[in-house]
Order: sequence, then structure tokens, then C-alpha cells
Amino acid sequence: MLGRGMITVSSLFMMLIGGVTSLRDVRLVVEPATVIRGGTAALICYRDMQGAPLYTVKWYRGNHEFYRFTPLEEPNNRVFGLPGIYVDMNQSNGTQVFLRRLDLSLAGNFSCEVTADSSFATQIATKFVDIIAPPTLGPVLKADKDRYQPGEILRANCTSSPGRPATNLTIYINEDPLRSSETSLHPTESGLFWASVQVNLKVTPELFHAGRLRVGCVATVYDVYKKSANLDFFTPETDPVPERITLNGGSSSSRSFNSWIFLFLLFFLPMLVSGQGYETFDTAFGDYYDEEVRENIALSLVGG
Ligand SMILES: *[C@@H]1O[C@H](CO)[C@@H](O)[C@H](O)[C@H]1NC(C)=O
Ligand SMILES: *[C@@H]1O[C@H](CO)[C@@H](O)[C@H](O)[C@H]1NC(C)=O
Ligand SMILES: *[C@@H]1O[C@H](CO)[C@@H](O)[C@H](O)[C@H]1NC(C)=O
Ligand SMILES: *[C@@H]1O[C@H](CO)[C@@H](O)[C@H](O)[C@H]1NC(C)=O
Ligand SMILES: *[C@@H]1O[C@H](CO)[C@@H](O)[C@H](O)[C@H]1NC(C)=O
Repeated sequence: MLGRGMITVSSLFMMLIGGVTSLRDVRLVVEPATVIRGGTAALICYRDMQGAPLYTVKWYRGNHEFYRFTPLEEPNNRVFGLPGIYVDMNQSNGTQVFLRRLDLSLAGNFSCEVTADSSFATQIATKFVDIIAPPTLGPVLKADKDRYQPGEILRANCTSSPGRPATNLTIYINEDPLRSSETSLHPTESGLFWASVQVNLKVTPELFHAGRLRVGCVATVYDVYKKSANLDFFTPETDPVPERITLNGGSSSSRSFNSWIFLFLLFFLPMLVSGQGYETFDTAFGDYYDEEVRENIALSLVGG
């Protein structure tokens, strides 16, 4: 009787020591770092067992356990049904759980809880996982007039297509970002947001570079989405027939009318504009108008 009590006390003592030393540095890492709606994510549970055997690892969304790995059980992994959580068992094990078809409603706190064998020391790591819904379309940029005389106020409005979180909108005047513009956010019924930004710019002759004033609007969501829209304004002196072109929201009938000519001319442009890069506008911030430059040249060649 006394002997068994002694063993229990000593094993309890070992458990306490074990609890302090056998398990540490539990970390939950999400890959990719930016999780996209409808996409996949691996929730990786790193830990330092210090040589102790693993008893179990549990993954939670909020307080609800949805996946458990217990190496000594058969089968060693189990999924607990949770609405909207789709576990890919083929890519889940004792280190990670792999989720598919992630929905916006799953954004929230995820945890992994590691328990060491024998000591039952337990540590939990929690991480907030946001789920991103990039806009499906590019921004729309509109100005109140087609041309401006120096001294007039150019009023324009750029709006993003709905997404989550709200798109960052940056207005460019020629090459320079306009710092003073303020973005306002508007919720939609489906839990998304669209953003809009106003431009009020006093037009001066210096703003026309080689006869052209370009207003650009670049919409970004972290590093997963980037699209732009531009408007060009020409000085009356250098261009008696001012041309106004929009990348988005342009008149669709005139666009389709010109598109076959545009496509045809596209083949000849490398000869006409030597040295001009042909990256798409979202390869780098500095190149964001390349696509429209081409269209612009094509239209002026046909006298449009
Ligand atoms: C998992 O693997 C099994 C057997 O290899 C296969 O039949 C199944 O389609 C796989 N499931 C997924 C989601 O890849
Ligand atoms: C768990 O699965 C991932 C992906 O299939 C793999 O890279 C990793 O090595 C596996 N880990 C263990 C402990 O089996
Ligand atoms: C996630 O956890 C943090 C810290 O425990 C807490 O402040 C926050 O409210 C939680 N968020 C949600 C959506 O439960
Ligand atoms: C900007 O455009 C959006 C969408 O067309 C519109 O709802 C909003 O009222 C406009 N804002 C201003 C100040 O014109
Ligand atoms: C918007 O820009 C700010 C400042 O650069 C940045 O901290 C934030 O992460 C951006 N948000 C999105 C959705 O891109």
C-alpha cells in the first residue's frame, strides 16, 4: 500500500517535471500566408517534444475541434464534422491539417493543441486566419468631363469591385501617387466591401506631360490582386481633337468596333514602338499603363 503510494507520488513528481520540460514551442503556421476564398490552406502545428512521445494533437476552429491525430489509435486520425470545413485526409497527418474550399465564414481563430504522452503536458497555439475574397473585376474610374482647361478642377471618382477586405485604391497623377485622396468604404449585403476615392485636382499646364495628363487608379489587395484603370486628358494646343480612353467602363460599342483593328495593329506595334516593353500592367507598379499605352497608340493610328 505504502509502496504504491510512493510510486504514485514519484510519478506525479515526474509528470510535473515532464510537464515543464517535455513539450515546448507549439506554433501554428498557416500556408499560404494569405488564404483565398475557395482555396486551400495547410495549418501546420510545429512543436518541440524534447524527445517525449506524442499522445495527441487536436485542431480547433474557435472552440470546436475538427481534426485529431492520435498515433496510438487506429485509425490515427479523425475528422469531426464542422459546417464549411473540408479536411483533405490525404494531406493531413500529425503535423498538419489540410483544408479545401475555404469559405469566408471560416475566418476566425484556429488553434492546435499538443499533448505529450505519459506526462500529459499540453500546450495550445492560436492564430487568427483571415480569408480573402479579391474583387472579380478591375476598378472603374470616371471623370466629370472629357477635357479640362488649366485652372479648372478635375473631378474624378474611382470605385473598386466588391471584395474582402476592402481594396486599397491609389490615385496616380501621371507617375505620382496622390497622397491627399481619401478612400471611403461601402459594405455589400454579401459581407464584402467596395471602396471609392474622389479626386479633386486643380489643372495646371505643368500637369500635361508631352501634352497628356494621365489619371490612374490602382486597386490592390495585399499581394494577391492588382488592377488599374486610367483616363487620359490632352491639352487643346497639342491635340485639337481630345481623346479620352478608359480601360474600364469605356463605351463597349466603340470598343468592340475598334477591337479588330486593334488586334490587327498589335502585330505591327513591335516595329512601330521599338524599345517599348510588353509586360502586362500588373507585373510591376511602374508598368501599370503599358496595356493602355498600346491601345492608345492603336487608336491614334486609326485616327479614332
Ligand atoms: C485520397 O487518396 C485516395 C487513395 O489514394 C484517393 O482515392 C482519393 O481520391 C484521394 N482524395 C483526395 C481528396 O485527393
Ligand atoms: C504530413 O503531410 C505533409 C503533406 O503531405 C508532409 O509534407 C509532411 O512531411 C507530413 N508529415 C508527417 C509527420 O508525416
Ligand atoms: C481570436 O482570439 C483573440 C485573442 O484570444 C481574441 O481577442 C479575438 O476576439 C478572437 N477572434 C475571434 C473572431 O474569435
Ligand atoms: C463615386 O461613384 C460611385 C459609384 O458610381 C457612387 O456611388 C458615388 O456616389 C460616387 N461619389 C461621388 C462623390 O461622386
Ligand atoms: C492597404 O494598404 C495599407 C498601407 O500600405 C496596408 O497596411 C494594408 O495591408 C493594405 N490592405 C490591403 C487589403 O491590401
